[in-house]
Parts: sequence; structure tokens; C-alpha cells
Amino acid sequence: MTLYALSDLFSDSLKGFFVFILFFTLIERGRSTMANKQPLNIVKMKKMKADGIPLSMVTAYDYPSASLAEEAGVDMILVGDSLGNVVLGYDSTLPVTIDDMVYHTRSVVRGAGHTFIVADMPFMTYHGSIDSTLDNVKRLMQDGHAHAVKMEGGREICTAVESIVKAGVPVLGHIGLTPQSVNQIGGYRIQGKDEADAARLLEDAKALEKAGAFGVVLELVTEEVARFISEQLSIPTIGIGAGRYVDGQVLVFHDLFKYASPYRDKRFVKTYGDIGTIVRDGISQYVHDVKSRSFPDETHVFTADDQVVENLYGKGKEKVARA
Ligand code: KIV
Repeated sequence: MTLYALSDLFSDSLKGFFVFILFFTLIERGRSTMANKQPLNIVKMKKMKADGIPLSMVTAYDYPSASLAEEAGVDMILVGDSLGNVVLGYDSTLPVTIDDMVYHTRSVVRGAGHTFIVADMPFMTYHGSIDSTLDNVKRLMQDGHAHAVKMEGGREICTAVESIVKAGVPVLGHIGLTPQSVNQIGGYRIQGKDEADAARLLEDAKALEKAGAFGVVLELVTEEVARFISEQLSIPTIGIGAGRYVDGQVLVFHDLFKYASPYRDKRFVKTYGDIGTIVRDGISQYVHDVKSRSFPDETHVFTADDQVVENLYGKGKEKVARA
């Protein structure tokens, strides 16, 4: 018996019922797939490196950007202290505080509860005693609900990294251009250009791996040096401006979408949209519509009952009130 012949046996309402059940089942399956989705973990990340599967990471600082990143299927979200530049309007990351990071991490976690979330340790929050460092880590993990923390620096921070890892907290290292040391580096310069610098970066990366870091961000590092470091480590390297041969990539959300004014183009960034222009043009159109009274129009308003209008304006004045 063909499917058509079979379907003739059922009434239209029965067919409708089956379609409804099928539709409902598919929707519920989709929902429960997201609800059951487990965030990536550091063991799987290492395996992904071994299997040659690249890791995707993007920064986010609030609920909507985090939800969109999760829906788009990103592997990891970084609540970066780049927050200072792109959201808070500072000219560096130095003024960002642990309270800022906790506040923004919480909103990111609310938006992306099924994604692995790394929170940045801000400037000078891991350079004092181990106790104060652990207190700051505790804030990001317990109050911010992050899965891991990121710290800038090489060998000089390895004692702190070891203590944090011993406390059970995954640490992502960050070497190359480290914006928290911009005043010492003398600007936002490409790292790993000469032999001594390449050797320094390699030693720092190895020391971080030995201290227990689960990965290392390489920022603005020459491609050859980043590649060599990636080959030498068993933990993943995540590049930003570090070329093609690292184990993953991270970009700043606001760079991906030119969400800034003015937006400054960066060679290592690929943009996927121009939110800045969309938002500026949209708001300018909105201002025009308000000034010209073309917004709101009748499709945007709520109307009261006739009796209410009559009581307010008097009988027969409804048309005037609604003109
Ligand atoms: O703060 C940040 O966004 C970062 C990335 C640039 C890696 O550290």
C-alpha cells in the first residue's frame, strides 16, 4: 500500500493531529537538546587540539551578546577586560576592577548557561599575596559563576597559576601582547619579531603549561613563532593576531561587528557585520521620525474603550479624540 493510499484511510482531523504531534515533538527535541547541552571542558579542549579540531572563542560582556554567541555555537566565551576599552570607554584595560568583571561575568553566564566561560583577572588582582589572588579568583568563580580565569603574563605569574590550579580552578594563560603591561611594553606592538623575543615567548608558554594552565592565548605574535609554540605545547593555544597555525582563535565581539565609534580597522580582524553603521543610521532615522511625528503611527498605539473616551471627551467626540 502506498503512503498516499494509507493517508486516505485517515480523516483530515486525524492527519492534523499527527502533524501537530510531529511538530510538537520536534520543537521539544530542539529545546531539550539546548537544555541538555553541556559546556565544553578543559579535558575535551585538549583532545580537540590532539585531533586537530580548532577552538572558537569570542568575547562577550552582557546578556544579549552572550546569548547570541551561544546560539551561534561558539566553543568558549571570554569575558575579557577589553571590557574597559569597548564597553566602559577607558583608553586601556587598567581601570577595570574585579567588581566590573564580576558584574559583567554574571550577565554573560545568564545569557550563555551552556557555554564554557572564562573571566579575565583584571590588572593587579593577581600580583599581591596568594591569599588576595585566591580571594579575587573566588569572586569570579562564586559571584561571577565563571568556569575558568585568564591571566596575563609568563614565568613571573606561574606561582600564582599553580596555586589557582591547585584550588581546582582552570587557568588560561595569556602572553605576547599583554594589554595590562602596555606601559611597560611601550605600546601595542607585535611580539616575537626577533630571536630573543621568540625564545622568551616559548619559555613563558612552556612554563604556563607546566604550572597547569589549560591553554594559552597568544596575542599579536608573529605567525611562525605562534606556530612553533603551538607545536611545542600539548595544551591548546588560542590566537588573536597570531596567524593561522594556532589551535583556536579569539576575537573581540565589538571588532567582529565594528561596534564602536569611531571604529579603527585592525589587520588581524575579520569583520562579519557593521553594527556601528546600522545603529547610527537607525537612531538617526528614529530621531527624524520622532521630530516629524511619523513615529508612533496607528500601528503602535493602544486604544481605550469607547465609554472611556466618551467620559473623557464628551459624547460624540470620539472621532476628535482618535483623529
Ligand atoms: O580582554 C580581552 O578581550 C582579551 C582578548 C583580546 C584575548 O584578553
